[in-house]
Amino acid sequence: KKGLIVAVDGHSSTGKSTVSKILAARLGYTYIDTGAMYRIVTLKAMREGLIKDGNVDDEKLKEVLPTIIFGFKYNEGKKCYESYMNGEYVETAIRGLEVSDNVSLIAALPYVRELLVEKQREMAKEGGVIMDGRDIGSVVFPHAEVKFFMTASPEVRAQRRYKELIEKGEKVTYEEVEANVRKRDYIDEHRETSPLVKTPDAVLIDNGDMTVEEEVEEMLKIIRSRY
Ligand code: C5P
Repeated sequence: KKGLIVAVDGHSSTGKSTVSKILAARLGYTYIDTGAMYRIVTLKAMREGLIKDGNVDDEKLKEVLPTIIFGFKYNEGKKCYESYMNGEYVETAIRGLEVSDNVSLIAALPYVRELLVEKQREMAKEGGVIMDGRDIGSVVFPHAEVKFFMTASPEVRAQRRYKELIEKGEKVTYEEVEANVRKRDYIDEHRETSPLVKTPDAVLIDNGDMTVEEEVEEMLKIIRSRY
């Protein structure tokens, strides 16, 4: 094995991906963003017109699902990870509010989760990965060597997300963003399949008052103690 499996779960907009990417770089591990996979499926479903009034056309989505090719590339120049769907660059499209508004609906579908979990296990079979998501420590890798559960108040998270979207030039109000954060929390925590939960063995990180650097240091200490 190339290293440990580190599971990073938690609420939306807790900065999971920010710290996970830094941790991966420091440890020489691979970063896997499972949220991006659910976002790609959502984008595909939206483009095919399979979501109407909060309902999904399951029959059609089941047909489309196996045709999706997920691609994740590290852009050396921009120093960031980018997502591709069947070879098309979709990083910007999957981060917008439209996809964010529909993703929890798609992520609640058992047949979608089954397929993505299988892919995630395959991607991490060699170890040496930091995987961020909602069910990594509970379902995908219940035996992960290290598990973190990240949280912060909904207001703190909405404020962060709002700032991010505005900087990207999206036209949103703070109220819309806070509503989206709360709605996603609710759906993620109450869905029947793999709801968002903190497993007893996960280390809780409440980062409302922490800087990214403080957080990374604390997490690195914990990871290194598990080697
Ligand atoms: O992490 P991110 O916010 O990009 O994830 C988008 C959505 O995908 C979440 O709100 C959640 O509904 C879903 N998700 C999930 N399980 C994962 C990762 C993401 O249900 N492992």
